[in-house]
Amino acid sequence: MTDAAVFPAARAFDPAVLARVDADYGAAKPLPAEAYVSPAWYDAERARLWTRRWVCLAAASYIPNPGDAIPLDLVGVPLFAVRGRDGEVRVFHNACPHRGMKLVGERGAAGALITCPYHNWAFGLGGELRQTPHIAGTGRHACEGFSKRDFRLKQVRSGVWFDQVFVNLSGDAEPFEAFIAPLAERWAPFDGGLLRHGGEDSVMVFDLEANWKLAVENFCEAYHLPMVHPGLNGYSRLEDHLNIEEETFSGQVSLVYRPDRSGHVLPRFPGLPAAWETRAEYVALYPNVLLGVHYDHFKAIRILPDGPDRCRETFDIYYVGDGPTGPGAANLRATVRETWREVFQEDVDVVQGMQKGRASPGFDGGVFTPVLEGPSWRFHRWTARAMM
Ligand code: FES
Ligand SMILES: [Fe+2]
Repeated sequence: MTDAAVFPAARAFDPAVLARVDADYGAAKPLPAEAYVSPAWYDAERARLWTRRWVCLAAASYIPNPGDAIPLDLVGVPLFAVRGRDGEVRVFHNACPHRGMKLVGERGAAGALITCPYHNWAFGLGGELRQTPHIAGTGRHACEGFSKRDFRLKQVRSGVWFDQVFVNLSGDAEPFEAFIAPLAERWAPFDGGLLRHGGEDSVMVFDLEANWKLAVENFCEAYHLPMVHPGLNGYSRLEDHLNIEEETFSGQVSLVYRPDRSGHVLPRFPGLPAAWETRAEYVALYPNVLLGVHYDHFKAIRILPDGPDRCRETFDIYYVGDGPTGPGAANLRATVRETWREVFQEDVDVVQGMQKGRASPGFDGGVFTPVLEGPSWRFHRWTARAMM
């Protein structure tokens, strides 16, 4: 058997294959196995999906003060985010306009200027070139015919919502407000201004040997709950979940959120409608951020690929107001973090196992069951449309 017979490289991009994924639930086929294993598909995703859509790259709380900066990586494209004097987060290409040196190497306080480590050209926090030491020879820092205005840092479109920093590299996706509006409206009862990141001890990182899409899909559905999460299923059962299916996000409603069972009480979002007394919602906002909202905390998990068969999940936990973020609440934060770690750790094996199965030429992408996998189908449809 030739390689081509095992994995016909063109099949994944065949419009007929993508059209079958785009079909209505019940008729739709899942994405083919190549979408999870093939370098060609991954390259196409970089070109059509990651760089063309709004994607989530960081938490704004990683750079809390003016002058704080952090390097970012968007499927191999080096970027950085910096908080300006006005408090706004801006994202720039992380390449010096002089000789292309990477400007921001690690997270930290850049101060009033972003200074290139190579020849020390220095840029304001809004990207303007301010200083060009020795540009006209020793001790001569300006020169005729060279306009600093021609060498600004290149800014990338960005937007922040619920502390999540999104970028659109191509610059031609819909306005950020339009992108975020459907979910922002759904969660309008929650005052995002009260969110406080729990700090360093409220971040978890999971490195998975699996395509990023498998991590997203697994988060979308509750079908696996009784089998993979017996502990969680003991009080939040499969039958206590409802599907959420929208154009740009999908996931689950849980009707039995009861954190007091573990004996800890956290400040709540004020003024929530009564339904939220026992309700939590978990959605994947396509393509790459998983979000969970509860009356007393919020979580965001960014998923970024590192090739077709590896990805990293970065998990941030937020509280309501400053109370739970101080040193006195460390045990409380550890309880919340470890509760979620247990659940996410339980998912690691199945997500990686699905990747292993996709190496089989005997697997053609599988099937969606008729009732419980609508949220996963929504994500496949969105992805297929992005790739068409
Ligand atoms: S490469 Fe940045 S100053 Fe020369
Ligand atoms: Fe799970």
